[in-house]
This record gives sequence, structure tokens and C-alpha cells, in this order.
Amino acid sequence: MCGIVGYLGKNNTKEILLSGLKELEYRGYDSAGIAVLQDNNFANYKAVGKLVNLEEKTKDFITDGFAVGIGHTRWATHGKPTELNAHPHLGESSYVVHNGIIENYAQLKKELQEDGVTFLSQTDTEVIVHQFEKNLKNISNAFEAFEKTISELQGAYAMLIVTKSLPDTIFFAKNGSPMLVGVNENDEKFFASSDSPLIGLAKEVNYFDDGDYGYVTQDALEIFNKAGKKVEAHFVTLATDKLSAQKDGYRFFMEKEIYEQSDVIADTILGRLGEDEIIFDELDSSLFDGIHEIKLCACGTSYHSALCASYMFERYSKVRCSVEVASEFRYREPLMSKDTLFVVISQSGETADTLETLKMAKNAGLKTLVICNVDNSSMVRLADACILTRAGIEKGVASTKAFATQVTVFWMLSLYVAKRNKAFTTKELQDQIHLLREVPASVIVTDAMHERIKRLSKRYLHGHGFFFIGRDLFFPLALEGALKLKEISYLHAEGYPSGEMKHGPIALADPELFTIALLPQHLLYEKSKSNVEELSARDSTICAISPLPFDKADDFIPINSCKDYMLEFFEMMVVVQLLSLEISVRLGNDVDMPRNLAKSVTVE
Ligand code: M6R
Repeated sequence: MCGIVGYLGKNNTKEILLSGLKELEYRGYDSAGIAVLQDNNFANYKAVGKLVNLEEKTKDFITDGFAVGIGHTRWATHGKPTELNAHPHLGESSYVVHNGIIENYAQLKKELQEDGVTFLSQTDTEVIVHQFEKNLKNISNAFEAFEKTISELQGAYAMLIVTKSLPDTIFFAKNGSPMLVGVNENDEKFFASSDSPLIGLAKEVNYFDDGDYGYVTQDALEIFNKAGKKVEAHFVTLATDKLSAQKDGYRFFMEKEIYEQSDVIADTILGRLGEDEIIFDELDSSLFDGIHEIKLCACGTSYHSALCASYMFERYSKVRCSVEVASEFRYREPLMSKDTLFVVISQSGETADTLETLKMAKNAGLKTLVICNVDNSSMVRLADACILTRAGIEKGVASTKAFATQVTVFWMLSLYVAKRNKAFTTKELQDQIHLLREVPASVIVTDAMHERIKRLSKRYLHGHGFFFIGRDLFFPLALEGALKLKEISYLHAEGYPSGEMKHGPIALADPELFTIALLPQHLLYEKSKSNVEELSARDSTICAISPLPFDKADDFIPINSCKDYMLEFFEMMVVVQLLSLEISVRLGNDVDMPRNLAKSVTVE
């Protein structure tokens, strides 16, 4: 997702900012920019696309001597990836860079516009700098104006502001989006949204806590906590290995991405949950007019999230829904009617088979919607409407956080349609929205859980195959668990509906057949349990994942007791991802780049 850098000092500010942004490229972005304040003059450059475009634009720009500067790589959320929407954003005499989402931006923007402020971009970020300057008009102390501004913002942010009102200072604030500051013996100060831009420049770094804000000058680093109390910096020595810095200390990108799920789901729901409604600003309210069926089309993991969606659209929204594997749909001469909304799902937005089905649907005159993680990708450009998942760039070939955010978007979308179709009462919608707010907490990986899975994984390195089994919404999760294991362990694994095992696959049952059983408490528990007992009676080795103890299992991975099966779904999702990861690690495989696989499959 977006990346932030900042620098205060006497060295080559432009180069430090640009090379810092380069280190953040791995997070994914679609535009970039810098602003440098030197001798009370601002220089600002922005460019769409890769950093080389920004480098080209700044090639004649020279910084010499003391300056303060901020830079940003933007992953579009509010507004298209254009130069105007790229950060830093300008007020009258201040610039801001920001990661995260300002939830109350619409209200603040309205008030600022009523005061006569003109907005240049479509972003939520621009309100920050205008709000700051509005406060500066009434409060002569720039830091106090900054403090007031922060108190007026709701949502998630890591932000830096530079202003002519205090030209030797950078203001910072962090809440929900990562940011750190680094220092060295030359009184330089460096900011970034992750370690790697600071390696080789700063000796010691302080990771900000949520609610921290403050300022730096050459002589000072002042940090205040969310209660407004001054706190000491907690410096730690910075690691020196850049690749591991990008992995933030995790062994693999896939592992990091599993751990990131809580944050990216929080980003995905941010600004989209009302009291009793789901808000998708990006959707035209007429999108569902005349629609009697939803058809979902995708490949691989995205196909599994589409299967999850089909349960939710029929159960919650009361809309007929069907799901298709894109490579099959392309050639089977499908019947398409105009009362069908055609939805494609893709992490990359470039998968050739899925893209082709989108073209087919468009040619047939259907309304189309894409659920995608990459703005400006081919599918996003082609579809009539788009909802972006906000997973940030996913580097591990085995998809994890993209799946988590896709299911989250589908859950929200099914409620959006449920409201439209009056399929839910206000109370039911409110209850669902409360549950959605609990998802980020339900996917946090605890040390105890990870350790348990690491230990258990050693028993699952052989055998003649795995069956991941589940019912209802836990069937697509079983498919996804099996796909994860196949992809990175190279062991044979299948996902199967629990109730279907007795119709054939149970013939395979013996101690060398490993059954990973998904047993949620709140969805068909007794029925699923009986299906697992049938396998246990035939001596299959059972690993049960459930909040309830299960005495017929050989191994048991407990999940937290939850109040709804959707939360159990997300808890179990993390377990199956970690189990695959740890089996693959024990087998000595390349977790992030498994053999024969590519991250984006742009061929048929
Ligand atoms: O980018 P997409 O979501 O369209 O990709 C679809 C599949 O290629 C992808 O999900 C693949 O199955 C992953 N390797 C799953 O981990």
C-alpha cells in the first residue's frame, strides 16, 4: 500500500527521499511525489506510474544544505491514480503526506468548502492540510494548530506535515498505519512507513505507537501520546539487511502477509461501515437496478472467495447467485441474460482467463463489477464498476491477505444488497456490522497458536494425501486450505464438502490419509461432526479445527469461541494458512516462490 518517507537535515534531501521511496516500491503504488522546503521555498514534484517518472521530473532539481522534505508512494483508494491525487498535497503554505483513510473526510471537506477552500484532488488526505491551515488562522502556534487538527480527524493515519510557519520542523502523527523515525549522530531525522528506507542512514529508530504525534527539528524529537502526554522515544538499533527489513523480520513474505491480515481487513472496512448500512461510495446506486441474479467468475483463490460470496448473496441478500471457474466459462458458450450482474474477482486484475470472461460479459451487454486489489489494472479499467480490496501488494505467490479482504468485501456487499432488497431488518444489519468490526481482531495471530501449529506440522509431512473438509461456507474455506497446502508443500490435498465424503472418498480412509476437519460451532456443528466421526471410525488421521474440543480427533487446533460462524470462518482461515506455511517450511520448500507457479497468470 502507500509508503511515506521524510527527512530533515543537511544532506542531499532529494536523493534521500527518492531512494527512500525506492525502498518502499515493494509495497505497491501507482503514483509518487515529494515536497522539499528549503530557504522558505517549496519545491514539489509528482508523477503517475513508476518512480523513474518522478526521477525524470526531478533530474534538474538540486537540494543543497539544510532542508526538510517529505515523500510518498500512493496506492489509490479515494480517487484515481492521477498527478492531482498524488501526495504531497498542498494547502496554502504547507504540504502533507498520509497513509490510511480519514473516515470523516467528507464532513470536513464540506465544512472547508463552505469556508471557501478549493480542493484540487479527490482524496481524503487533502482535508488534513486544509484543516491544519484553517486552525493556523486562529492559533498562532503551529504545533498547537497541528494538535487540534489531529483531534478533529477520525480514521487511520500515518502522516507528515511540513509548513512555512515552522520551516525547520516536520510534524508527525500515527494512528493505525505504521511509521517510525530514525536518528543519527549528525542530528538528521528520517521517517518511513517501514524499516528499509532507513537502513544505512539511521542508527537507531523509534516505532510510533497508535495515537503518537509530535515534531522533529535538528535538535529535538518530541513525542506525545494519545492522551497528549509527552513520552520518551524508545530507540532500538536498526537491522542492516534490506530484504529482511522489507519482510519486517518475518521469515517469508507469506508469513508477513498472514500477520498483516488484521491491518488490511481494518483498511478494507474503513469508511465503509455505517450504523445500519454499508457505504460503497464507489458504487452507483443504480448498479443493482433490474438485477435478478449475480454471476461470479474467477480463478484459484479468488474463485474460492467467490464461492464464499455465493452463500452470502443467497442467504443474506436473497439474490440468486452462481459461480464459475473463468477458464471453463470462456468456452462453454454460456447463456447470459441482462438481468444478471457479472462480477469478476481478481487480486491482480490481470488474470487472462478472468479478464476474458469480463470482456464476454461486456460484449453481451451485462452490467459488470470487479472486486480487485490493484487499481488501474486491466479489469478495473474495463468493468463498469469496481470495489478495491485494500490488501496492499501481495508478494507471496500463495495468496492469503488478498483472500481475506475479498471475503470481507463480499460480506459487506451482500449486506449492501440485503439492505437494498429489504432482506434484513435494521437490527439484523446492525448486528452484522458489529460482527464485521470484530474481524480484524479475529485474525490476529497469537504466539500460542502459531507455536502450536509449528509443533503439529511435523506430523503432516508424509502420508498419501490430505482432505480438507467443511460444510456450507466452510467448504470453500476447505478448498482454499487445500489449495494453499498444494501450492507450497507439493503434497496432494483436496477440499471436499464434509457430507460428500461418504459418497466415494471415504474409500481412501486409513491412518495415512490426513483429514483437516473444519468444525465451526455455529454452523451445522452436529452434522459436520458426524461426517468427521465416520472418517475417524475408518482410522483416517484427523486434525480438527474448532472452538469445541473433539475427542475423536488425533490432533486438535482450538480457535477462540466466537459469537457467529463468520468470525469462526476468519479464525480458521488463519489456521489453515499457517498450517500450510509450517508444513512447507519443514519440507524446505521455497514458500514465497513455489515451483511452477507465477503470481500473475496472464496466459490462458
Ligand atoms: O490475481 P487473481 O486473483 O486473478 O489470481 C487468480 C489465481 O491465479 C490465484 O488466486 C492463484 O490461485 C494463487 N496462487 C492462489 O494462492
